[in-house]
Amino acid sequence: MDKIIINLNELLLCLSNAQDLVSPLLRNHHEQVGYLAFRLAEQLKLSNKQQKNIFIAAQIHDIGSFSTDERLELIETEPIGVNNHAFIGARIVEDFRPLRQLSNFIRYHHLPWNDGKGSMYMGNDVPLESHIIHLADRVCTKIDIHKNIISQIPFILSEIDKGRGTLFVPKVVDALIALSKTEYIWLDLISQSPVKKLPKGIYEVLALDIDDIVDISSMFSKIIDFRSRYTSRHSAGVAKTAQRLAELVGFSKYECKMMLVAGYLHDLGKLAIRNDVLEKPSKLDEDEFNEIRSHTYYTYQLLDSIPQFDTIKTWASYHHEKISGNGYPFHIKDNNLSLGARVMAVADVFTAITEDRPYRKGMSVEQAKEVLHSMVDSGALDKRVVDILCDNFDAINSLRKNEQKKAQKLYESFLSE
Ligand SMILES: [Fe+2]
Ligand SMILES: [Fe+2]
Ligand SMILES: [Fe+2]
Repeated sequence: MDKIIINLNELLLCLSNAQDLVSPLLRNHHEQVGYLAFRLAEQLKLSNKQQKNIFIAAQIHDIGSFSTDERLELIETEPIGVNNHAFIGARIVEDFRPLRQLSNFIRYHHLPWNDGKGSMYMGNDVPLESHIIHLADRVCTKIDIHKNIISQIPFILSEIDKGRGTLFVPKVVDALIALSKTEYIWLDLISQSPVKKLPKGIYEVLALDIDDIVDISSMFSKIIDFRSRYTSRHSAGVAKTAQRLAELVGFSKYECKMMLVAGYLHDLGKLAIRNDVLEKPSKLDEDEFNEIRSHTYYTYQLLDSIPQFDTIKTWASYHHEKISGNGYPFHIKDNNLSLGARVMAVADVFTAITEDRPYRKGMSVEQAKEVLHSMVDSGALDKRVVDILCDNFDAINSLRKNEQKKAQKLYESFLSE
């Protein structure tokens, strides 16, 4: 199978930028921490490899933090010690082979230095990289976006210096102070896209095969789904269903794996939606409803930054389009809606109506078939795809259930972490 040459940083940034879209207070947080951690590593004369790695880890350091409130809290005050979200983030990263070696950087990124005791945690070595990300993170949370950045430098440095030795490694504090003498560092940091200001050479370009892409998108899907117990297994079910339907409509083996990837990513844009809207138990008001509906637009925009994902992008982000042209938000119609996008739409509806949610049971086979057929009649779903699904209903349904059971187990193990 052909390798896909991909810029790993770009791919990961697409994920963390999605997480930072949720609030203006988080805007660019991952990019900023990525930028500053890299500059600190450079200042500390770490090796090129270490600089690259710290950059990657810093760009995704908070991926284990799923709720909007938790993210905002982390910006306001630091929870001292070892943190759940850091542990969860590390576990997520461990599942993806090319990133496994970085998991400890993420696991300990809130561990205080504690006059040297922070070089170990429960008998394990804590890498210096964690402590660098820790300091970079705290610096970025101290920036007030409403004030001039240069005028804030003395205050930020004195705040960080208060933690010298207790929270932060003294030599990393010194590196920050030295680095701060050049104002451009701070101006880069608050720019539109700080990471674009870094030397191009640090981007990690990898040749991934499609199975790696499947793994990384499965990692993404956990972050998407685990934000809410309402959706904790949704993408897993959609992905498997879409892959199976793709096989049945005659897609190649490679295309079927792409469909799996698209299924994992179809709700990526939900990362941009606030938790209180995602989880609102009562009826949504007009604004909230429109906010939720915008998720496929964000899925499209986020995936658009990865050129190799062109097809995956359309399969993933057109899942609320309808053949009649009455879908949203692009109103793609008739033959312009590809078979892949039609497969995804059917997989999404099927999973949504058959899966159990905390507030309701999934539909029975008869009810589900009825809904699917009525959506064919109204011009929402593709007839051939729905017929194939209904002909293989039990097999696909148990495939979906199995997959969702696995995701549920993992979700529960994260909750108990
Ligand atoms: Fe964090
Ligand atoms: Fe952070
Ligand atoms: Fe959706």
